[in-house]
Amino acid sequence: MKRSIVYHPDLRLKKLCAPISDITDDLRQTAVDMLETMYAAPGIGLAAPQIGMFSRVVVMDCEKRDEAQPNPIIMFNPEITAHSEETSVYEEGCLSIPEHFAEVTRPGEVEVAWVDMNGTCQKQGFDGLWATCVQHEIDHLNGKLFIDYIGVIKRQMITRKMQKFKRELARKKDF
Ligand code: NI
Repeated sequence: MKRSIVYHPDLRLKKLCAPISDITDDLRQTAVDMLETMYAAPGIGLAAPQIGMFSRVVVMDCEKRDEAQPNPIIMFNPEITAHSEETSVYEEGCLSIPEHFAEVTRPGEVEVAWVDMNGTCQKQGFDGLWATCVQHEIDHLNGKLFIDYIGVIKRQMITRKMQKFKRELARKKDF
């Protein structure tokens, strides 16, 4: 089932998410719903706070559309265990901040440990867009957004435009 996405500015996007101690069927269903929501948007990553849930869950699929088979990854309790000194810059966006983009510098490669749908621990290295995406999504679990990396002037401008976008959205819903 597709869930509705929480838009910035919203205090729910600022919350620290709790670690998961037990992978229940409910949680597995939430992760599947998150993937469905992400693909429908469309986007390449989604974190639990973006659907108003505060457990450490992220989903991603950074394969280019049309080119490859879908390659969804569901992560519970993801953690960056190592990162490169080398950085890379990507123009990032976010499903909670639609139509706004900004360049963010992050480590170019990261190693991530997580628990998968079967409760098994996984560890894998990521580079390129995958590396940026996994760092962006883990940030969400700590209440951090990509606009927190950019200058205050641009951040305030984006926030004002998002407030206007949300007002218009609310107005449309009233009719
Ligand atoms: Ni995001």
